[in-house]
Amino acid sequence: EGGYDFVVVSNRLPVERTVEAGEASWRRSPGGLVAALSPVMARNAGAWVGWHGAPDEVLERFDHDVFHLAPVPLSEQEVADYYEGFSNATLWPLYHDVIAPPEFHRTWWNSYRTVNRRFAERTAEVAAQGATVWVQDYQLQLVPRLLRELRPDLTIGFFNHIPFPPLEIFGQLPWRRAVLEGLAGADLIGFQRPGDAQNFQRCVRRFLDVPFKQGQARFRDGADEWTVHARSYPISIDSGAIEELASRPEVRRRAEEIRHELGDPETVFLGVDRLDYTKGILHRIKAYGELLEDGSLTVGPSVLVQVANPSRERVESYVHLREQVEGLVGHINGQFDTISHTAVRYLHHGYPFEEMVALYLATDVMLVTSLRDGMNLVAKEYVAARADGSGVLVLSEFTGAAEQLKQALLVNPHDIDGLKATMVRAKEMPPAEAKKRMRAMRRHVMGHDVTGWSEAFLRDLARARAEARPAA
Ligand code: G6P
Repeated sequence: EGGYDFVVVSNRLPVERTVEAGEASWRRSPGGLVAALSPVMARNAGAWVGWHGAPDEVLERFDHDVFHLAPVPLSEQEVADYYEGFSNATLWPLYHDVIAPPEFHRTWWNSYRTVNRRFAERTAEVAAQGATVWVQDYQLQLVPRLLRELRPDLTIGFFNHIPFPPLEIFGQLPWRRAVLEGLAGADLIGFQRPGDAQNFQRCVRRFLDVPFKQGQARFRDGADEWTVHARSYPISIDSGAIEELASRPEVRRRAEEIRHELGDPETVFLGVDRLDYTKGILHRIKAYGELLEDGSLTVGPSVLVQVANPSRERVESYVHLREQVEGLVGHINGQFDTISHTAVRYLHHGYPFEEMVALYLATDVMLVTSLRDGMNLVAKEYVAARADGSGVLVLSEFTGAAEQLKQALLVNPHDIDGLKATMVRAKEMPPAEAKKRMRAMRRHVMGHDVTGWSEAFLRDLARARAEARPAA
């Protein structure tokens, strides 16, 4: 096993190990991170270090597609403390506007440190001399510094896929200094929005007392001294691949079939999310229910399809959210369904990507109503799929995507009346206006794909390192 010149490190590998009825198999992992990085890895033919999703199972390294996978094991206890606990019940809510209250537990923090160290050690084994390592997301914020200590020869990048919170909120974290120091082990730290990069720089100034000037700060550790760069790189999707998939006859046929199976409605509204409290699913369904109530929409001519991918199902706030969403859907359907038609088609499972693209094609109004979202790739996927320029996107102001898809109908999801009015406006939008908006959004999405994102980041990372270490 030789070392690899390019290594991606993320909590999850792109595939997860599942054991059903004694049969072990692999399936694609959930979430935007894996969706975005898979095409990047396919181009760079490197190694991917990450957890394979099965607690207590230790697996050897192996080749997958054109890249190499290096699984990092997690015990059952670490899944509870590092993954469900610190990552998803402390950091996730803290970084998403404290929509759910973050919990601070020292046992969780200790587990986070232990697991981050394991990821750093695994990466140090896999990376060749002088390799470029790209660490991903909030689960692994200590890895850059730990890795720099183990392997000062490496070029280290970090990308934060979720928002970086304002100083006043980040400051709640009892381990705020350790997290900032961990991140500052990287040569370049990428964020989704310029505002996230600014929040980070303010936190470093305040809590580490290190000045950031023009996105750069100097760090020192004994004899080692280096420059940390912080900037925004809004992530995207494999736009061309999605457009191509959406143009296939079998996918288009499937889209027609879906509309037919839904009872040939005039207007299909669609939501596609991991079942997560950051996504504003309750706000959207509530607004939809009120539109049925006040007669603005009618069951039959209109339908709301809500795909809710199961996510983090043992974390308390997710259990609670599921109860609320299912209660509300049951309430609305009980009140408005007819023998032949359903008001809200609620689907609590994941689907193959091809089926999702068919669903995008079958949709008139796409609803992305997140209360806070680092980027939201579903919004971009919908736009990429709509090659004929039809379809309307309703998009929350509180997503990273809203900074790029300015011709969407932007909404504040907390404003239920505003959301309702926008949903009606979307449904009634004249086709010419819809096309004008969709075409403008398509120019952006087709011109800014995930390859452009990774190339911009990796180019700046190489440059940062070259400046720091001029060739001897
Ligand atoms: C978001 C995060 C990713 C995460 C994904 C799925 O996209 O930014 O880091 O992998 O959600 O969540 P999960 O907890 O299932 O990995």
